[in-house]
Amino acid sequence: METTMTHRVSRTRFLRAASLVLTLSFAGCAPPGAHRTTLSVIPNPLSAKVSEGPAFDASLPLRITYSDGDSAAAAAGRVLSDLIGNTRATMPHVEPANPDSTSRSIAFRRAAKDQTIGSEGYRIAVSESTITVDAAGPAGFFYAVQTLRQLMPPLVEHEAAYVKPLPIPQVTIDDRPTFEWRGLMLDVARHFLPATDVKRFIDLMALYKMNRLHLHLSDDQGWRIEIPSRPRLTEHGSQSQVGGKGGGFYTVSEYEDIVRYAADRFIVVVPEIDMPGHTNSALASYPELNCDGQKRELYEGTNVGFSSVCPSKEETFVFIDDVIGDIAAMTPGPYFHVGGDEVQTLTESEYIQFIERVQRIVERHGKRLVGWDEVSFANLDSGSRVQLWRPLWPASGDDAALDSSRAAAAAALKRRVERSAANGVEFILSPADRIYLDMKYHSSTVIGLSWAGISNVRTSYDWNPDDIFGQIPRKAIAGVEGTLWSESFATVHDFEYMAFPRLAGVAELGWSDPERRDWPSYRGRLSKHAARWQALGVNYYRSPLVDWDD
Ligand code: ACM
Repeated sequence: METTMTHRVSRTRFLRAASLVLTLSFAGCAPPGAHRTTLSVIPNPLSAKVSEGPAFDASLPLRITYSDGDSAAAAAGRVLSDLIGNTRATMPHVEPANPDSTSRSIAFRRAAKDQTIGSEGYRIAVSESTITVDAAGPAGFFYAVQTLRQLMPPLVEHEAAYVKPLPIPQVTIDDRPTFEWRGLMLDVARHFLPATDVKRFIDLMALYKMNRLHLHLSDDQGWRIEIPSRPRLTEHGSQSQVGGKGGGFYTVSEYEDIVRYAADRFIVVVPEIDMPGHTNSALASYPELNCDGQKRELYEGTNVGFSSVCPSKEETFVFIDDVIGDIAAMTPGPYFHVGGDEVQTLTESEYIQFIERVQRIVERHGKRLVGWDEVSFANLDSGSRVQLWRPLWPASGDDAALDSSRAAAAAALKRRVERSAANGVEFILSPADRIYLDMKYHSSTVIGLSWAGISNVRTSYDWNPDDIFGQIPRKAIAGVEGTLWSESFATVHDFEYMAFPRLAGVAELGWSDPERRDWPSYRGRLSKHAARWQALGVNYYRSPLVDWDD
């Protein structure tokens, strides 16, 4: 498998190198002194044609219009108006389109849904006096606004930056995502993040057109969501976290508020309750979940694999039914993540029976099961999803022992993946050696872990989801998800530091076609995002691999 992967990567590299030469020689032909507009949009749109001509200045008087009666177009217009309003004394009016009007406008119009635009795609055409935005669905309008936002200078993010020019270059953009699933996981169990911090991440995900927020809501170190039928989980099980000090949980209304806030930004919340392992906080709250009936102490360390709910007791499945039922009732999205990882205390057959029974419970509550890649030991139903998390690339340099154990694990996983794919299961790619965003950027990064390797801004971005397990049909890949496991950090500032810049790369891996992704282009576009993060107050890592342009 590694040979195949190396071969594919080197062919892609060759093609990329060839296209870079073409780009450079084209730039070399430009007349001396000519100014070429380059766009810095991330994720890179499917196609963008820039015309040289005066920009549309969004700081001048303008109206934002929508096709009469189209509430989704009107809502997107208001999001744009709010944004432009940051830099002006008054916000642009948002009103139904008037065909007789000749004033400067940004017009949101409903397009017929066809294969090129899809439900999340959009078209933008910018001239000096008019912008038109065509989309077939609400998400497409919202994503078009995010693109317009990135076409404007970063000062548009500053609430205090009044009346500055806001040039939008003349451009025609056609865009839609490659993958349906463009996710981020927040581990709020090892260290709790308050709801306001989760909302901040939702805002930052929206800027990059990400659409799945996976919340890791329970683990050995703490239980983070109120379960009305099982109050001890939060009364007791939420009171700890890694290293002590703190803990916490979301009440039902806080969780529902997060879900709504995300939905307004076209982000689906995927709740995870990890089981049968990673359950010490539940075992400390409800003694009957332990095979010996003895309650466990709260846990503040970082070991894994030691806990499990008792797979042979009916009380366990009554508990799981209560928890899944309560969370399903607060979660409109179609997914329920059951974890399933790193179980060391069950036999393979106990594990398989457990996952298959839990899958039936999830489905009975109207949801689709998602689980970490171990769940593929079980017989999964079509519609269930498996999240691949193992490191898949050879370890660095001369670590031959690690290389051969990784290769063996990857080969075994590949067989299970093929079997699940044949059953109609889809895959979410989170290879730990690429997009586990809690891995250090550099050996001296002060927070983060390194068990899967060091993952710098380039390594994390410069791979191709289609190259993983070449035999999985492309349509079985739901998409990609970056993860922020929080064993080694605690505050939203730490979470941001590990996420940025790499989260922008995850977004591009999920959205942009392979032909629209390459490191030199991405690096150049990324260099322009630091100024936007500064305007938004994001605590990002200033990687020396990028020549920051701010
Ligand atoms: C995992 O990192 N244990 C899913």
